[in-house]
Amino acid sequence: MKVKMADGVQDMRAVWFENGSLKLIDQRKLPLALEIVETADWRRATEMIRDMTVRGAPAIGITAAYAMALALRAGEDPQKAALHIKAARPTAYDLFYAVDRIADACASGEDVLCAADGYAEEIVEKCRAIGRYGAPLIADGMKVMTHCNAGALATGDWGTALAPMRVAHAEGRRFFVYVSETRPRLQGMQLTAWELLQEGIDHAIIPDSASARYLRDGVGLVITGADRIAANGDFANKIGTLDKAILARHFGVPFYVAAPISTFDPHAADGKAIPIECRAEEEMTCLGGQRLAPIGSRALNPAFDVTPGTLVTGFITESGIIPPDSLSRIMKRV
Ligand code: MRU
Repeated sequence: MKVKMADGVQDMRAVWFENGSLKLIDQRKLPLALEIVETADWRRATEMIRDMTVRGAPAIGITAAYAMALALRAGEDPQKAALHIKAARPTAYDLFYAVDRIADACASGEDVLCAADGYAEEIVEKCRAIGRYGAPLIADGMKVMTHCNAGALATGDWGTALAPMRVAHAEGRRFFVYVSETRPRLQGMQLTAWELLQEGIDHAIIPDSASARYLRDGVGLVITGADRIAANGDFANKIGTLDKAILARHFGVPFYVAAPISTFDPHAADGKAIPIECRAEEEMTCLGGQRLAPIGSRALNPAFDVTPGTLVTGFITESGIIPPDSLSRIMKRV
């Protein structure tokens, strides 16, 4: 990801390991401040997943891989550490996949920090492949819609849903992105818009509730990320994704989901098996720390919804674009 700093443009990752510490961009502070936080403590790294300093399924996975490696290096019991880290957030499958990968590396005598480095590099490479496979879907002059943030911040570098946009832009095609704000935590408005601005990709932030209007009036493609994809193609992603998928089908707009293999859960037969995180009411009832809802009203705040695989045109993966009815091909490799 290219980030404009006061002293020029810098290549940066959302999560990286340097001089014995895990470093992360604090995503809660963007776009007002670009702050890097660091820790060498696995419990603190786990806390940073829970409090959403880092978010987005593959970036959560990379952070979890380092948290597990730091725990094992500190002599923690592997099973206890794995359980603790896996409890940080329930929906993104990458979290579980990454912890198990580092536990396996440990069991086979590998250096766990090298294994976590390898895991991070692998995810970055997979996202680059997603970008290359997905870019041809974006034609010159097209209007594209995305939801939440499935960009570099959510993955380490390039992104999943934003990777094809980065590649198409680098190839010289000019297109326009509708970025839905993503209530209540505003990952679309605060993070996706920030990334697209850094890349010079033309875009506008829209209210989540304006999706129908723009899907009717000229959007040619929807691309989102995913937090967990079940064997039948049902997938969990940020709340509001289901609305867009239904609307895209209604208006005949192709709907693609971009995700690496670490997001595919072969143990979940369908969407009913995906656990959905419910977050604090205050995320809904308060804005900027001030309560706006009447005292006494309750709020419901499911962080994700599940979209049926039947509404998906294709999954953009590091192995190519896969139709929902052919997912068994990729599930065998998980
Ligand atoms: O609650 P978040 O911000 O972690 O939710 C993130 C999303 O829903 C993303 O779309 C998903 O993780 C894909 S990220 C490549």
